[in-house]
Amino acid sequence: MSVDSPRRAHITGWGRYAPERVLTNHDLEKMVDTSDEWIVSRTGIRERRVAAAHETTASMAAVASLRAIRTAGIDPDDIDLILLATLTPDYWMPSTAALVKEAIGNTRAAAMDVAAACSGFVYAFATAQAYIAGGLARHVLVIGAELLTRFLDYTDRSTCILFGDGAGAVVVSASDAPGGALGIELTTAPQGAYMIWLPAGGAKSPPSAATIARGEHFIRMEGKETYRFATKTMATTALESVRKSGLQSSDIDLFIPHQANIRIVEAVAKGLDLPMAKMYVNLDRYGNTSAASVPIALAEAVNEGRVKVGDRIVMVAFGAGFTSGAVTVEWTADPARGPAGDAAVRPDDVQVRLPVDWDSVDPIPPALAALMAQPGPVDVPLDDVAPGEPEHAKQPVT
Ligand code: ACO
Repeated sequence: MSVDSPRRAHITGWGRYAPERVLTNHDLEKMVDTSDEWIVSRTGIRERRVAAAHETTASMAAVASLRAIRTAGIDPDDIDLILLATLTPDYWMPSTAALVKEAIGNTRAAAMDVAAACSGFVYAFATAQAYIAGGLARHVLVIGAELLTRFLDYTDRSTCILFGDGAGAVVVSASDAPGGALGIELTTAPQGAYMIWLPAGGAKSPPSAATIARGEHFIRMEGKETYRFATKTMATTALESVRKSGLQSSDIDLFIPHQANIRIVEAVAKGLDLPMAKMYVNLDRYGNTSAASVPIALAEAVNEGRVKVGDRIVMVAFGAGFTSGAVTVEWTADPARGPAGDAAVRPDDVQVRLPVDWDSVDPIPPALAALMAQPGPVDVPLDDVAPGEPEHAKQPVT
């Protein structure tokens, strides 16, 4: 990977993928003691997507990546570096990025995963910018992809209602032209390390029958503490990124916040003294997709016509760690390229190679098995989903 001189990092391609199966709040009412009214009023979430048994973090990431590459108008082999942010990799090793590299038909890129939980995409974007500015890469594929529904405790109503599956990707390209990435701010506050965590499966507590019996392979969260951190840090991190860009928050055309909770997004808007019209929101339809949430939201915002050339946008996220990150960019790509890039890649055409002589046990959590076993997916093509009022499943989910 060698590029002659330090250059600016521009987003030239964007793409997203979300599984077809919809899990509504009403479905969750049948699993835990909750209600659509409680979930909507406390979080803003109405439904989320659930990956099918044959899907993985890598497969969703590969579809979103190829869409981003088609939107950028380059070949997969033009990519020099693949950075994949996730907290739900297909395996502990190899990296999910390596699997995606093979699935998209790239032969030359370095590939690695980035672990910064829900802030992962912004952290990976910042890394891409540094590689480009340092002259080490010309085109970097930055992905956020998550399959969270396999790591949730469907007896814990305070966490299982929040998360969903999906992937988003951007191509970040070197250019001497003005615009692209401006100011970047990343923070980590380890005092929050055990506020959102997954206790077992790592070196401190390797997986065993005992850890499984204790439910330590599921995500745990102190919701109130996390909420408090998020509302404060999202506003300050975004503001610092804007300040480093030589701008003020009133100069920003659109904020793409991590899609965790509408009340958090509203608090951030208030903290920045901005109207909600400047905050892009799609969490009603996807829930919290962790590292995938910002790139999915970005791709949707651009394809819906919310972004035009010259706009300044801020992507801002927070997550386990506690991590937080924000990047301000001046948009330079033709927004009209997105829908064609999406349409050019059909999920069925993308394959992640499977191991020889090994297959996983059924990956679908028992609590979701009945829903997933129903004939035919609930087919809500992404492009049919209008902004604003969420579309519901065309086929009832019972
Ligand atoms: N349905 C009905 N009642 C519920 C539910 C539910 N799904 N979940 C919790 N409750 C109950 C609680 O048991 C509690 O009942 P009690 O008063 O009888 O004890 C009551 O509702 C209030 O619970 P709180 O936890 O105080 O509810 P809160 O208003 O704080 O909302 C929530 C909880 C939505 C989780 C909120 O705290 C939140 O959004 N926190 C941030 C979470 C977040 O964004 N996490 C993502 C981190 S990103 C990453 O890196 C993974």
